Amino acid sequence: MQNTILITGGSGFIGSNFILQWIASERTPVVNLDKLTYAGNPRNLQRVSSDTRYCFMQGDICDRDLVHSILERHKPRAVVHFAAESHVDRSIRGPDDFIRTNVNGTFCLLEEARAYWMALARQDRELFRFLHVSTDEVYGSLDPHDPPFCETTRYAPNSPYSASKAAADHLVRAYFHTYDVPTLTTNCSNNYGPYQFPEKLIPLIILNARKGKSLPLYGDGQNVRDWLYVEDHCEAVRMVLARGRIGETYNIGGWNEKRNVEVVDTICSILDDLCGNDPVLPHRTLISFVKDRPGHDRRYAMDACKIEHELSWKPRETFESGIRKTINWYLQNEAWVNEVTAGNYRQWIATHYS
Ligand code: NAD
Ligand code: TYD
Repeated sequence: MQNTILITGGSGFIGSNFILQWIASERTPVVNLDKLTYAGNPRNLQRVSSDTRYCFMQGDICDRDLVHSILERHKPRAVVHFAAESHVDRSIRGPDDFIRTNVNGTFCLLEEARAYWMALARQDRELFRFLHVSTDEVYGSLDPHDPPFCETTRYAPNSPYSASKAAADHLVRAYFHTYDVPTLTTNCSNNYGPYQFPEKLIPLIILNARKGKSLPLYGDGQNVRDWLYVEDHCEAVRMVLARGRIGETYNIGGWNEKRNVEVVDTICSILDDLCGNDPVLPHRTLISFVKDRPGHDRRYAMDACKIEHELSWKPRETFESGIRKTINWYLQNEAWVNEVTAGNYRQWIATHYS
């Protein structure tokens, strides 16, 4: 076994932040297996693309022969599984890819990882880890006065996306209990930060506001999400990988519950200060309440006490510091923005918001 880790979905939003952080801090080799769907972008990893510790393999996690050969060739000490279809609205319009990648893809990886792990020498078997990255959405929706989700909260997924992630979580759990594969699962709240594809709320609002386009809030805008800066999430995943107890799940959250309307209002105020020459000012006049998402979960909130007590992880960023960093990143990375908002993106926006 080598000191390499295999990342799936490393060219997406969280995976690319994870790889950049890993190369800068852990300094050991990373193999990135990514299909490069609309959400994957090799430009995110330009900074490490010629680093000898970084190896990119374009491919599908559902391709078992490919997964098998990557495991045999690189002999990783861990698999960190980010690859997924991740956008709830797309899962409502077309769930097929979500079942294929999130459920069948996770199953393929687990099967190949199990065979690889079983063939390892005894001391390597003890060191190997399969870390599955999941979401708080598997727990369903909270009422305003409910306590936040904890690791023992009953699963109650409501969207095709969250149902597919829940199915994957159950498979991971089964591979630990049935076959002893040393798994770890993390369930995280909503992330935001650099490289997030602008179909998700925060980057969509930043980009639309700058262009004087309307800022669509679903329903009454009172839905609550618990926001976490992406680098904090990546650090938490690294800690779980290094010191998490096998077979366990860890909830990761920002202790940052915000109503959507508050999030959009905060972005608008910061942009009013930073971008005084934008076509429409103040930016909040662009807010428009639009038809609600079907089955829209009202509130998510995470109790992240277990990871804090066991692994001493706490988020470093507040929402106020993280959102400023994020806005500045989008302002400073116009070339990235222009590239990802060309082509298919326009089609998605036109169809979804028409
Ligand atoms: P993303 O959509 O930005 O990136 C997904 C990546 O997976 C892309 O690079 C894509 O090309 C790749 N991919 C998709 N299908 C693939 C396949 N069949 N084979 C190989 N690669 C494939 O997603 P993200 O926001 O970075 O989320 C990463 C993970 O974290 C997902 O598992 C998601 O469920 C989970 N998660 C996300 C959030 C969030 O707020 N974004 C919160 C909690 C958990
Ligand atoms: P999103 O970023 O899609 O993440 P998720 O659905 O996984 O939580 O959405 C965050 C919240 O913002 C969610 O309550 C839906 C809402 N939302 C809007 O109001 N308008 C939009 O255009 C989008 C994309 C999301």
